[in-house]
Amino acid sequence: MENKRYDAVIVGGGVIGCSIAFQLAKRGASVIVLEKQEIAQGASRAAAGMLGAQSEFTTDSPLIPLALKSREIFPSIVEELEELTGIDIGLVQRGLIKVACSKEDGVALEQHYQFWKQQDPSVQWLSMKELQEREPHVTETLYGAMYLPGDGQVRAADLSIAFAKAASRFGAVIKEYTEVYSLLWERGQVKGVETAEGRITSDNVILCAGAWSKQLLKPTGIDVPIFPVKGECLSVVTEIPFITSTIFANNGCYIVPKKGNRLVIGATSQEGTFHQKVSVKGVQSLLERASAILPSIVEAHWENVWSGIRPQTSDGLPYLGEHPDIKGLFGAFGHYRNGILLSPITGVIIADLVEGKTYESIDLSSFHLLRVVPTSM
Ligand code: FAD
Ligand code: GLY
Repeated sequence: MENKRYDAVIVGGGVIGCSIAFQLAKRGASVIVLEKQEIAQGASRAAAGMLGAQSEFTTDSPLIPLALKSREIFPSIVEELEELTGIDIGLVQRGLIKVACSKEDGVALEQHYQFWKQQDPSVQWLSMKELQEREPHVTETLYGAMYLPGDGQVRAADLSIAFAKAASRFGAVIKEYTEVYSLLWERGQVKGVETAEGRITSDNVILCAGAWSKQLLKPTGIDVPIFPVKGECLSVVTEIPFITSTIFANNGCYIVPKKGNRLVIGATSQEGTFHQKVSVKGVQSLLERASAILPSIVEAHWENVWSGIRPQTSDGLPYLGEHPDIKGLFGAFGHYRNGILLSPITGVIIADLVEGKTYESIDLSSFHLLRVVPTSM
């Protein structure tokens, strides 16, 4: 590996690492992204791409201001990335309809609706007639429907690749098949990383290794409660468009309409595994749940199945911030179900922190690495 010193080393080339690389490179920093496989092959490739700032939050959470801000800046980020790279990221802003498939889910959905209605008058409760008018292929046998006009969607893998390509346009080096073995620091200052191809030095290292972040951070004295949650998805193609908005059932199944009459159907949740084989059981349960919402889906043609590993944390919040004892070492991981949605704002926040600025507009204390009880150094 060339013996060059970088302003910032980014560990992990998923949507989070690539978004941070883009922001830092755009601000003039020399940046290298180290990815052990290929860019956007982890959770970021598997994601359905929903920008669920309202659909994913049913009660108050410190993540909501971040989620709403990220959703708000998405259109301008997409425009900028598309201009720089020529990649079509597939931003669709036709809203999301959350539906309840049981009486119990209907009660929960109504509470979800009341929560958002108080803050956002554009959120609507739909009668079955209104739902049928919007989405005639969706079943009428439901116990409620809520329309969230602001929740859009993108093509997740294309977004990550566009972040990486745009970062390269500003001079960032994207190094694939380069695993980081350990973080290096001396007297409270980060010094770089040890990789399969040797040492890379920098005064700033940003750990964005998704569900794989725990082991790299542990020797620094912080044992983050982060664990893998596998999610399986499948896609089908229909002759005519079946839905225009994303349909998200309270039972966890969602159907996201993509370009070319593709429907992405997700997702299962299996905790504690890093293996990415897709199970027959998972596919069967997704198809059963999807056809209960959209019965004509059985007429669709089969396309693909895949899975990815979500980075879940024990309090459900990501880690965003500088290490309490090692200057220049930053964490940006644990985005669980919302890393695509949160990628633009995460890039801005971490780039600000690396530049020594404090991110003023949103309180970040809930995401600090200090909320973890450190183990011995
Ligand atoms: P990853 O994309 O996993 O990237 C981490 C990268 O680090 C990987 O490429 C890995 O190879 C690399 N790495 C790990 N260790 C090392 C090392 N030692 N050295 C070098 N590189 C290393 N979010 C949404 O917002 N909307 C959705 O609709 C949505 N749907 C989802 C559906 C599914 C089925 C799944 C699984 C996830 C979904 N998510 C969604 C969540 C989203 O995909 C994740 O939150 C996001 O991709 C996390 O990004 P990341 O960059 O942190 O992790
Ligand atoms: N946000 C959708 C998922 O993680 O499956």
